[in-house]
Amino acid sequence: MTRWLLTGGAGYIGAHVARALLDSGRGVVVLDDLSTGVRSRVPEGAAFVEASVLDTDAVRAALTSYDVSGVIHLAAKKAVGESVEQPLLYYRENVGGMVSLLDAMALADVSNLVYSSSAAVYGDPAWSPISEDTPCAPLSPYGETKLIGEWMVRDQARARGMSWVSLRYFNVAGAGSPDLGDTSANNLIPMVFDALDRGERPQVFGTDYPTPDGSCIRDYIHVVDLASAHVASAQLCEGGDAAAVFNVGRGIGASVWEVMAAVSEVVGRDVDAEAVGRRPGDPPELVAMVDRIRADLGWSASHDLHDMVASAWPARPNPV
Ligand code: UD1
Repeated sequence: MTRWLLTGGAGYIGAHVARALLDSGRGVVVLDDLSTGVRSRVPEGAAFVEASVLDTDAVRAALTSYDVSGVIHLAAKKAVGESVEQPLLYYRENVGGMVSLLDAMALADVSNLVYSSSAAVYGDPAWSPISEDTPCAPLSPYGETKLIGEWMVRDQARARGMSWVSLRYFNVAGAGSPDLGDTSANNLIPMVFDALDRGERPQVFGTDYPTPDGSCIRDYIHVVDLASAHVASAQLCEGGDAAAVFNVGRGIGASVWEVMAAVSEVVGRDVDAEAVGRRPGDPPELVAMVDRIRADLGWSASHDLHDMVASAWPARPNPV
């Protein structure tokens, strides 16, 4: 049995990846500092190490003692706005975390790596859908640290030989079960739910974008589909000599108004969203081109927007 170490495995996405890996017959060791992760999300079949990726010795010890064959690196800071206010925090945690992890992997002679990157590496590209070959021009320290992480993996792979996949996530949503929801209300769907639970009107940030209905378009991807993309990536790495960057999305855009409609359908009443001004820095449209991941990994998403909203609703942090 091959065993994978999941940094950040007690987080929202990590918890889903851990379950998918166990279901695939692989062993799982979760390494998480519990700064935002939740211990109870670590599934029963997985080992747990409470440590930060910045602690190279602890990561190395975990890799060696559990005889790990690969790492899925999800641990990172991920709030765009916070990264603008505290860039050094992001460089320390995300870039410093990657230095530490790659060091530990070299010391423990582990060479398979799946890295959580982000569509934030693209910034505001001139055209959509976005292929992996689109020039990267991140607009925030968060996106910059994710792109630097990609470079570090590539460079270390050239220097010492690694089998690696970087996954550029688009907009992740949904939940695999009601106990595994996204607890940080930073993204559109959790924010809409939060407003509804407080008896307020959800807000549409900007209705004058150059899109068919004037609101921003994103490529929403179900966290369960995202998790299966990690399993397929792990498998590719295990085959040796992987060196790949993949978008992970559905290749289908949904506008903010369309998300509001999906929420109305799920909650069974009109959510009566309110149009407000633009949020600074939001690109009008970010939709993934998904041909490469389909061809090279044989992966494609199987859940739609309704599935995401319907699974996220009972999984929200404080249902009223
Ligand atoms: C998100 C992530 C970013 C990630 C990127 C990948 C955050 C804050 N952003 O960005 O880390 O790299 O996906 O594509 O985690 N909106 C509203 N009303 C609301 C909330 C949001 O209209 O109450 C709109 C936004 O203006 C945006 C869309 O909904 O157009 C999606 O917003 P959000 O969920 O924050 O994701 P992104 O900004 O796309």
